[in-house]
Amino acid sequence: MSMTQASAPGKVYLFGEHAVVYGRPALACAIELRARVKVLSTRREGVHVGGSRGPESIHKYPYLATAVRLLEQRCAAPISGVKLKITSSIPAGAGLGSSAAVTVATIGALSHALDVGLGEEDIARMGYEVERNVQGSASPTDTYLSTFGGAYIMPEARRLTPPRCGIVVGDTKRSASTKALVAMVRELKSHHPELVEDIMDAMATLSREGERLLEAGELSELGRLMNINHALLNALGVGTPELDRLASAARAAGALGAKITGAGGGGCIVCLADEEDTPQVANAIRRARGRAYIVRPAEVGLVVEG
Ligand code: PMV
Repeated sequence: MSMTQASAPGKVYLFGEHAVVYGRPALACAIELRARVKVLSTRREGVHVGGSRGPESIHKYPYLATAVRLLEQRCAAPISGVKLKITSSIPAGAGLGSSAAVTVATIGALSHALDVGLGEEDIARMGYEVERNVQGSASPTDTYLSTFGGAYIMPEARRLTPPRCGIVVGDTKRSASTKALVAMVRELKSHHPELVEDIMDAMATLSREGERLLEAGELSELGRLMNINHALLNALGVGTPELDRLASAARAAGALGAKITGAGGGGCIVCLADEEDTPQVANAIRRARGRAYIVRPAEVGLVVEG
């Protein structure tokens, strides 16, 4: 077995989360925060995860254990004598696709190290299956973007040009359950179906308009639409005072647009900003008691070296 390492990026939603659950288009973009996985050989039997406290059984890590199980099924042979070293710059549980990135990097690295011969489509599909197995339900967006990088209209996976500007992510440092928020929106929709359908139709218009503006490089207009999408997510009830505070601070500091990314209820906002304005936008987020990450779009998804 050759020593292999792989990395895969996280993602943000520029438009359309929640509406995508009801068949509307969403626009997502991979970002240069990465999870990295190193595959090493060891004399121990089975698969272990190397951490600061020594190797631990893979069974403590549901995403990794499921990925290994699916790979074993695929090659009809047990995987043993393997140690995985995981590092990640993607905050976990913040809606940035950290579990998908770790999963995709693990599948990519193991597939290469063990000569399983999976192509990128296979890896994205297997990553999605892992997330569905562990979470009960999942959207294919995270694993798709972790594998392929770039910007996409989902679920049809039409590739777009990523925004040519700075991206600042603001983290409220409060985690929230995607499952609970999706259920909350479903409950609202059951009481007010027409109203919520209208809001989701408006979100679909934002994704389509967003696609056009992205392709035309009209980033100020794109930012305005992100602000509208933020307001519509608030209308669905997934906003919080912290998310609003971070978004307002970012806009006041010159962001072209700022909105919730992902499920809401905590988690993160995403802002677009001119490259030179990103430090001041990040500082404004920190002053508003958030954690800030200045990132760029990830043009490349899964990278395997070995
Ligand atoms: O918070 P995240 O990145 O898991 O995004 C959730 C996105 C939703 O549209 C709310 C749910 C989904 O499965 O698409």
